[in-house]
Amino acid sequence: MTIDTELGLMTEQLSVFLMQATLPSGDYMKICCIGAGYVGGPTMAMIAHKCSDIQVHVVDINQTRIDAWNSDHLPVYEPGLQEIVEQNRGKNLHFTTEVDEQIRTSDMIFISVNTPTKQYGVGKGRAADLKFVELCARRIAEVAEGHKVIVEKSTLPVRTAETVKRILANASHEATFDVLSNPEFLAEGTAMEDLDSPDRVLIGGESDKAIQMLVDVYAHWVPKERILTTNLWSSELSKLAANAVLAQRISSINAISALCEATQADVDEVAHAIGQDSRIGPKFLKASVGFGGSCFQKDILNMVYLCEFYGLKEVAEYWEQVILMNDHQKQRFARNMVRTMFNTVSGKRIAILGFAFKKDTNDTRESAAIYVCRDLLTEQANLAIYDPKVPESQIRADLEYVFKQENGELAERDRKLIEENVIICNSALEAADQAHGVGIMTEWDEFKDISPAELYEKVFKPAFLFDGRNIMDHKAYIEQGFEVYAIGKGLLNS
Ligand code: UDX
Ligand code: ADP
Repeated sequence: MTIDTELGLMTEQLSVFLMQATLPSGDYMKICCIGAGYVGGPTMAMIAHKCSDIQVHVVDINQTRIDAWNSDHLPVYEPGLQEIVEQNRGKNLHFTTEVDEQIRTSDMIFISVNTPTKQYGVGKGRAADLKFVELCARRIAEVAEGHKVIVEKSTLPVRTAETVKRILANASHEATFDVLSNPEFLAEGTAMEDLDSPDRVLIGGESDKAIQMLVDVYAHWVPKERILTTNLWSSELSKLAANAVLAQRISSINAISALCEATQADVDEVAHAIGQDSRIGPKFLKASVGFGGSCFQKDILNMVYLCEFYGLKEVAEYWEQVILMNDHQKQRFARNMVRTMFNTVSGKRIAILGFAFKKDTNDTRESAAIYVCRDLLTEQANLAIYDPKVPESQIRADLEYVFKQENGELAERDRKLIEENVIICNSALEAADQAHGVGIMTEWDEFKDISPAELYEKVFKPAFLFDGRNIMDHKAYIEQGFEVYAIGKGLLNS
């Protein structure tokens, strides 16, 4: 053993000793996380990994999901997650469906269940559906004993803690509670890095003692200056505000991309120039066919609903514009494809490269590709779709979903439209075979390696390339004979 390892071990033992000195009960602290999903699973795996003195139990009502967490095929793919779960599972990281037992015996309970956009009743399409959070709170109220710290991990509308507190106030066994808000900022594909080295950890609450308990958990590996403590409502709102501001940056650069195309400016050059201003910074300024993902749209809609609820009409309209701009960008891209291909794509094969909402994930939630495909199908195009990670069943399910009507039904006409005009391919070149145009929807690295000559061989002439991510070597494609339309650059040959 080297001196470094020995010193490392001694420091770890010392920190375990110091931690145990502040423990609320028993020999070690016990955490329960309700919800073994995309957020709960990775977050708890990291806490267990970094805190050998804490026992972490992740519970879920979904037996299949729990079985998957206990198998070699985890239900969530994130680089680095499998290794961390394998190292800690069965030691201080456990996955189980014994929800009540774990609620009863834990010191701290994270609520990490899904909060989708409401699909019915008041606030339909905008407000977050809190039924799963409420069910969790009711379960805790029913079975908890003694004192518990409840941590809201799911993204929630501001003042949800109020609801949770009111439900908990009626606990069956005279249990007492402190409620904290601890929103998650992890992004898909980099979740483990984001958890390992977060820009900040945010903890909102009313009780200093409860806040300190959670600070102590994160202090195992996060520098103190990055752990921010606020009041409950600031913490809840900060999560929505962070996603709204990030999405707003993308809508801003996408709005500028349209102006660039009209004025023959180049959006990448403009983004670079403005990003050099240290007050603006270079990140999140990549123009695209539109942002997707499970959070941005949902959280903004949630914020819009909240503004309307508080009578802040102008504020609601301001944030809604970020979504409208995103919708416009997707429509603009599809319209440009149609216009460039002589105003009609009817009966023409178009290769759609990429279907995931960003690279390195198989997640398609709110992916721009879904909407571009819908618009092209409406124009009677034949689509040949290829994505390296998204399975055919998911692509078909997404297209059927986007065509569903107000009443949630898929019209027979639309079902046939999809069935007869969409094929799913196994490679980019297969999709491009005899296509009139090729559209890049997701910035997968492998698309950059496509040979312009091989692609040119495959497609009908004139050959059109539509780059919705600005990742291709446009010069090489033009030299090969393609007509290239790039987002924020326009038709490059003209
Ligand atoms: C986002 C937030 O980044 C994260 O902090 C929050 O917890 C969850 O929501 P995620 O949805 O995983 O994470 O992906 P992100 O990398 O933020 O990208 C969102 C969308 O914006 C993607 O469709 C991406 O392609 C697009 N995007 C991102 C751009 O179009 N341009 C950019 O410059 C950056
Ligand atoms: P997120 O992306 O927020 O993590 P997911 O949908 O991936 O959301 O995961 C949420 C998980 O929460 C699901 O596995 C679901 O079964 C679980 N869940 C929802 N309600 C409850 C509940 N009352 N008790 C236990 N687990 C729940």
